[in-house]
Amino acid sequence: MRNYPPPTNLKVLPKDLSGREVRDIMQKWSGSLGVHCDTCHMADPHRTGPNGRPRLNFADDSKPDKQIARIMYTMTQQMNTDYISKAMDLDKDDMGSPVTCGTCHRGHKMPEDFVIPRGQRDEGEDWGPPPADASHPAPAH
Ligand code: HEC
Ligand code: HEC
Repeated sequence: MRNYPPPTNLKVLPKDLSGREVRDIMQKWSGSLGVHCDTCHMADPHRTGPNGRPRLNFADDSKPDKQIARIMYTMTQQMNTDYISKAMDLDKDDMGSPVTCGTCHRGHKMPEDFVIPRGQRDEGEDWGPPPADASHPAPAH
């Protein structure tokens, strides 16, 4: 079995995570964005892996995508604790699930623009003519 060294440079994830727990989270992030580890992690030219390619220096912070991912993680946590949890309290059918990286990214590094499918556009109610007194401001009470 491979061993996963304990993390040394966590700034947003809980600092007591084991190496294996960090690895599991990283695999989820990679899959949610459809990327590999080297999108966020810098190669270490001094250490070569069995495949002859440089190993990644996971503690290194020089890749902008790693820094963005920290912001994204903090944002996602805050969405869940400050907002989604409150919506779930009101949502009695209990069907909701928390926001994850995949909620927005859906397998893409950059979330895709959402285009409303043809025919799905709700043209809305006919609002009809404005009420006769629409030009008069409501009397103040
Ligand atoms: C979308 C960007 C992103 C991807 C993809 C990613 N990581 Fe990370 N990784 C991070 C961030 C951000 C941190 C630091 C988290 C923190 O500061 O709490 C981190 C931390 C780590 C650490 C801990 C380093 C230390 O010593 O502190 C390891 C190990 C790691 N990643 C492994 C991986 C592996 C293996 C993969 C591929 C399966 C991967 N990462 C994919 C963003 C990413
Ligand atoms: C609420 C929606 C949302 C969630 C949740 C979310 N992201 Fe993002 N993410 C975005 C948007 C929008 C952008 C584009 C921002 C920009 O212009 O750089 C982005 C950009 C990124 C980028 C930079 C991509 C690039 O090519 O510049 C990374 C890396 C990233 N997100 C990682 C993550 C990770 C990791 C998570 C989960 C911890 C996450 N995101 C959760 C919406 C989200």
